[in-house]
Amino acid sequence: MKFKVSVIGAGNVGATTAQRIYEKGYSDVVLIDILEDMPQGKSLDMLESGPVLGTDANIIGSNSYNESKNSDVVVITAGIARKPGMSRDDLLITNMKIVGSVTKEVVKRSPNAILVVVSNPLDAMVQHAYNISGFPKERVVGMAGILDTARFRTFLSQELNVSVTNISAYVLGGHGDTMVPLIGSTTVGGVPISTLIKPNRLNEIIQRTRDGGAEIVGLLKTGSAYYAPSAAVAQMVESILLDRKEILPCAALLEGEYEINGLYAGVPIKLGANGIEEIIEIDLTDEESKALKNSAESVKELIEIMDKN
Ligand code: APR
Repeated sequence: MKFKVSVIGAGNVGATTAQRIYEKGYSDVVLIDILEDMPQGKSLDMLESGPVLGTDANIIGSNSYNESKNSDVVVITAGIARKPGMSRDDLLITNMKIVGSVTKEVVKRSPNAILVVVSNPLDAMVQHAYNISGFPKERVVGMAGILDTARFRTFLSQELNVSVTNISAYVLGGHGDTMVPLIGSTTVGGVPISTLIKPNRLNEIIQRTRDGGAEIVGLLKTGSAYYAPSAAVAQMVESILLDRKEILPCAALLEGEYEINGLYAGVPIKLGANGIEEIIEIDLTDEESKALKNSAESVKELIEIMDKN
């Protein structure tokens, strides 16, 4: 059975996400943007890679939301990206308006879809999309934790000269300065990280993880990261479409879990055909629990600013 995924925003993150999903072959893809002809051009280019790659999926580009009708999953990447010197929060009001209008258009046409929000500042945008959509909380999820965790695992693998696949870690909380790496649950081949890396060096790696997005922005100069973000989105989409029920760190609406109520935050979830099928509550140290609540509080400030606009 072929699925249908619509990706809204055909810029760097949207186009690479569409490419990754299209290349899997199990889902048709619709790529939508406001820029005339651009999503059509990128999609046709990707479609023409099909014979080489051996994928029979279809991919089309459009400026009309009608093409997104009856999608199984809708990925929202529309918005502006950071430039050097900007924080994710600087995007708030502009992207709030874009994400709000996109959400209205897509939910009308795909009332049963699962929404995966990627636009930044992520936690505020996914909360906004949830509010606008009227969807149950299980069907609105944000991408951030997989990316932050992947950055952390990358740096740890470089540090220890060991395969990334042997590094098990979680970075929870908001997608920004307040993200919370769980040191106690980070292991390398089952060995606790704290026995392998000295605290000072570990703190440097954690700081690099927090600044991971800014590091890429500083190098690219004209935009923000998209290869690792799109890989994270594709993993989420696959877990949903193929009902893999992977446990992944994603932004989910918390209603009492981790003693946080009514706010989206990055936590481990089970992601399957029904969307967020379970929020996994892992034991946190007092310090980690405090940091997670603090992270959610900073998202609350953004939501209050959005409420006034
Ligand atoms: N509807 C559809 N597409 C839109 C809309 C809209 N209302 N407004 C803007 N777009 C499109 C732009 O035309 C552009 O093609 O969104 C695309 C964004 O692409 P980029 O500028 O390349 O940004 P990208 O790097 O893809 O990042 C998109 O994801 O990771 C986050 O912080 C990042 O918020 C940013 C988003």
